[in-house]
Amino acid sequence: MDLGLKGRRALVTGASAGLGAAAAMALAAEGVELAICSRSLKRLGIAAEKIYKATGIQARLLEGDISKEDDVHRVVAEAGEVDILISNGGGPPPGQLTEHDAAKWQEAANLVLRPAITLTRDVIDGMVERKWGRLIYITSVGVLQPIDNLILSNTYRAGVTGFCKTVSNNYAKYGITANCVCPGYTATERLENLAKDQAAKSDQTYQQVMKQFASLSPAGRVGKPEELAALIAFLASERAAYITGTSIPIDGGLAKALI
Ligand SMILES: NC(=O)c1ccc[n+]([C@@H]2O[C@H](COP(=O)([O-])OP(=O)(O)OC[C@H]3O[C@@H](n4cnc5c(N)ncnc54)[C@H](OP(=O)(O)O)[C@@H]3O)[C@@H](O)[C@H]2O)c1
Repeated sequence: MDLGLKGRRALVTGASAGLGAAAAMALAAEGVELAICSRSLKRLGIAAEKIYKATGIQARLLEGDISKEDDVHRVVAEAGEVDILISNGGGPPPGQLTEHDAAKWQEAANLVLRPAITLTRDVIDGMVERKWGRLIYITSVGVLQPIDNLILSNTYRAGVTGFCKTVSNNYAKYGITANCVCPGYTATERLENLAKDQAAKSDQTYQQVMKQFASLSPAGRVGKPEELAALIAFLASERAAYITGTSIPIDGGLAKALI
């Protein structure tokens, strides 16, 4: 299927590793011009080299910390015209309600919720002018079924979901779609760190925790970043023009709700 993406321009944040890097790779494979952002120019360079080797697309590297408002403004300005925004970044730390003090709650809001809002505010006028845009937010299956011990993530990703749905209502008339993708347990550095944390706090080994993560979905395994990336590329495409305001789980069946 021709996704009709050749020549479109994407900004992917949190793109030096994991889900963001996979999304960037999938878009580049469709001929999308890329600007990729993370806190580390070195890690971005490594990701960009892989993308170039696989697709011939030379990504622009934008160093920035999306939890900082000024960095987000600068990154969007340096990215130039953005047709496709993939809003993504690191995940907040695990823990329960009282394990996080007020500063930690604020940090998590700055990392998860605020960048989604600021990135969108900064790219939306250009999309309206060009009457075309794709806003895609990487959230989590935790918005469908809260994940134990991840209260910060469960809370602020629900906020991103409400934000995305509202934006989708307001901007569909300009040819702009807004959707969330909701990964379940997917094999990235983030998952490894969560497994290490859980192993350290329990009598399970790291391997046992990873096995437990895999067993939580009917598919019986964790996801691959490329699987999420394929969904993102489709949602970014011409073919997905009538899909907006959704939150699509990609979780091997983990979320048990009917719809
Ligand atoms: N993997 C899963 O199972 C899973 C499931 C549900 C939801 N999620 C969520 O999906 C998102 C991506 O997950 P992942 O597994 O790909 O995480 P990851 O492996 O930790 O990768 C995170 C990426 O974001 C970048 N990043 C982190 N903090 C940043 C910041 N403040 N500013 C700019 N870039 C930043 C990192 O690059 P630098 O270190 O170079 O900055 C890296 O490229 C996270 O929010 C995660 O919580 C993941």
